[in-house]
Amino acid sequence: MQKIAMLGSGFIGRFYAESIHGQRSRDRVTAIYARRDESARKFAKDYGCDFASSDMEEVIARPDVTMVCVALPNHVHAEAVMLCAKHKKNVICTKPLGRTAEEALQMMKAVEEAGIFGGYLEDLCYTPKFLKSMESVRSGALGRILWAKSREAHPGPHSEWFWDLEQAGGGCILDLGCHCIEISRNFIGKDIKPVEVMCWADTQVKPIEAEDHAIALVKYENGAIGQFETSWTFRGGMDLRDEVMGTEGTIWINNFLRTGLEMYTSGKGADYVAEKAESNSGWLFPVGDEVNDLGYNHMFTDMFGAAEKGTDPAETFYDGYVVNAVIDAAYRSAKTKRWEPVELAIWRGQEGLTKPSNYTDYDADHYLIKQEMTHDGRNKLILKEKVSGKIVERDV
Ligand SMILES: NC(=O)c1ccc[n+]([C@@H]2O[C@H](COP(=O)([O-])OP(=O)(O)OC[C@H]3O[C@@H](n4cnc5c(N)ncnc54)[C@H](O)[C@@H]3O)[C@@H](O)[C@H]2O)c1
Repeated sequence: MQKIAMLGSGFIGRFYAESIHGQRSRDRVTAIYARRDESARKFAKDYGCDFASSDMEEVIARPDVTMVCVALPNHVHAEAVMLCAKHKKNVICTKPLGRTAEEALQMMKAVEEAGIFGGYLEDLCYTPKFLKSMESVRSGALGRILWAKSREAHPGPHSEWFWDLEQAGGGCILDLGCHCIEISRNFIGKDIKPVEVMCWADTQVKPIEAEDHAIALVKYENGAIGQFETSWTFRGGMDLRDEVMGTEGTIWINNFLRTGLEMYTSGKGADYVAEKAESNSGWLFPVGDEVNDLGYNHMFTDMFGAAEKGTDPAETFYDGYVVNAVIDAAYRSAKTKRWEPVELAIWRGQEGLTKPSNYTDYDADHYLIKQEMTHDGRNKLILKEKVSGKIVERDV
């Protein structure tokens, strides 16, 4: 059983508590820190916590606490993690790990040097659809992964600090791109080095310093390409889609707006529909079990299970650091309008990979380009002659 100190009683702190206390879970949130006493007390009442305080260190240091869960605004993550290292408390931290790779690296080093457990709460790498897709990718059902695109777009976050560049550390790239980058990285292979980023970012709608819309390509050392699309100006709810393409197959995932549950209501008796849904009348796309469908349940099961077994969870502080490094490169690229290198002071994956050959032998004299059954019943081959380089067609 884990006795959890929740730091932050806001949007994600409550989602996490719902998940941790869900079903017949034996794990409990026993202590809560919020900036204001009143918010901490309200959270404690709602979730049956034994202790509530507006003193972060007091909550972290409590002897009964076995795990600290950081659910605070981005600019407070580092301070919270440093306190966990000081008090030797296992820690799990929400996304993005840091506002920059430098900040994330400091946090990662503090956790590793303190010898405590560190888990990166990247829930979208734990959704049931994602986990099932990863199984197929691992089994080779898609062959060699060539392209992995992830999109997260919604009408913008719910608290004031997100819109302040200093506190948030960035706009939709940092806030949403962190999910997309880690999703693509998982599909392409976490041991494959992200090497360069080309990013377009702009502030198209909101009166803010940060970007509210961005698209980027992330090049990997083995020739695979990641792509992310993020927006704080998208209308119509929360658009969470992934596409993966390999030499043997394709996967399309729609996590939120098209889950197979569609409903119409005139608006009578209208209530909460789903995160960032913009309407509660007309045709709606509710989510069956939001806490599960967004990955929180599988995420906490992995985190607590790993902490208890003394192993690493699927998403670690190191992963959070790599994601921050890709984001830093994206911000540089958006400014310079060039491919920018991903600067990784620490890389723990494969080194020196090159793009595999794109020449498949058909026979001793030809490479295979394509084989296709045409509508007139022919089985057609398109081949390349090895010596002359000529492209030829042949019916078989
Ligand atoms: N899917 C996800 O994984 C997901 C979703 C939403 C938010 N988040 C992350 O969770 C973190 C918190 O976001 P949120 O949406 O819960 O925010 P929020 O504004 O709803 O809640 C923030 C909480 O932090 C506390 N707090 C402590 N110090 C603060 C300070 N200096 N300024 C403001 N609040 C302070 C507040 O009391 C509040 O309880 C962010 O890092 C965000 O990126 C993750």
